[in-house]
Amino acid sequence: MNVDIDQDTVDTINAGEASIHEPGLEERIAEHAGDRLHATTDYDAVRETDVTFLALPTPSAEDGRIDTSIMQAGAESLGEALAGKDDHVVVVKSTVVPGTTEDVVAPALERGGFDDATLAMNPEFLREGSAVADFLDPDKVVLGADDDRALEDMHAVFDPLVDHADAPVVETDTRTAEMVKYANNGFLAAKVSLINDIGNICKEYGIDAYEVADAIGLDDRISEQFLRSGVGWGGSCFPKDTSAIISAAKDEGYDPAVLEAAVELNDRQPERLLSLLDDHVDVAGERVAVLGLSFKPGTDDIRNSRAVPVIDGLHDRGADVVAYDPVATEEMAEKRPDVEYAVSAREALEGASGAVVVTDWDEFAALDEEFDAMTEPVVVDGRRIIERRDGITYEGLTW
Ligand code: UGA
Repeated sequence: MNVDIDQDTVDTINAGEASIHEPGLEERIAEHAGDRLHATTDYDAVRETDVTFLALPTPSAEDGRIDTSIMQAGAESLGEALAGKDDHVVVVKSTVVPGTTEDVVAPALERGGFDDATLAMNPEFLREGSAVADFLDPDKVVLGADDDRALEDMHAVFDPLVDHADAPVVETDTRTAEMVKYANNGFLAAKVSLINDIGNICKEYGIDAYEVADAIGLDDRISEQFLRSGVGWGGSCFPKDTSAIISAAKDEGYDPAVLEAAVELNDRQPERLLSLLDDHVDVAGERVAVLGLSFKPGTDDIRNSRAVPVIDGLHDRGADVVAYDPVATEEMAEKRPDVEYAVSAREALEGASGAVVVTDWDEFAALDEEFDAMTEPVVVDGRRIIERRDGITYEGLTW
């Protein structure tokens, strides 16, 4: 049973379709809708269930802290629906700072009228673009619970998945489970920022940062993953979660120096990309193509995409921006009507005096004679997706 207050989302799921672009999701929804999967806007539907997962958004507030208002409203509605029921496990799936399950969600359930909840916390580590595959084959499953009852129920839910995927299970209390999620994302975001820092040094020396990354990745203690340097990280998770844990740490009286540096470095990468373009062409009054708008390939999500500061930087320079993305154009056009959008990379490149690559979509790797349509074939690649070739002036951000 899936409860959502958005009627369109509910209708889409019940029609066997997915409301977001995520490989493999639509097939699964189509297979189970109307059978093992029902969506509704009616919270009372949870009364027929034993366990409820709260998977509500916890967006960034203006000050970088998480905004728990949606979470609280959802928990209050859940509390109203569960009032009078005496046995129910409520699992917080959303990313929340340590203490939120206990100090924010439990009181909200009580305000709704349900004070008999058994609370648990189960952070999610899937990535957009490979969400279904990551969910089905997790590196770990973290079960945060403060009593045996909650732990048993979560085992009942997760054991089939854990057995199937042969995934390790980590049992913790709820606050530790909440922290594990931030530690995971903070570590990965900082890892990418560190390889970007090293990559920027490599570029100064004329060294290929990817060759360096290949070498250091062979050290098991470093690992080869998340060593792709470039224009930086975006999305709904790394930016929001680093801000939230930095703010939460400061609230506790601690300044997290490395995480702050990771964010600062990430904020600088788009400008570094554009300064490489400046080295070759004065873009004022010129047409410049932005290839890629989503924060990473495989998704139409543009939240915190590096394309946004890149577009802003080009506008500041007086350039006419024409952007292209295989799936995220509609999303960006809604947010940024001030940009011209092309229906193909070819169209975006036509008459452009420069091109910048922001997202590593596979189709960009196949671009070739399309560059001939440019007035001035200067290509600055922020994702190492385009091969250096004769006939174009090519700059890699860190190589
Ligand atoms: C991230 C985490 O990887 C997931 O484990 C976590 O569950 C998720 O956040 C979340 O908190 O919900 P996601 O944001 O979907 O997943 O995407 P990633 O694949 O982690 O990429 C994040 C950003 O880092 C992208 O902009 C990507 O281009 C960038 N990145 C990633 C690099 O620049 N270099 C790399 O080597 C890896």
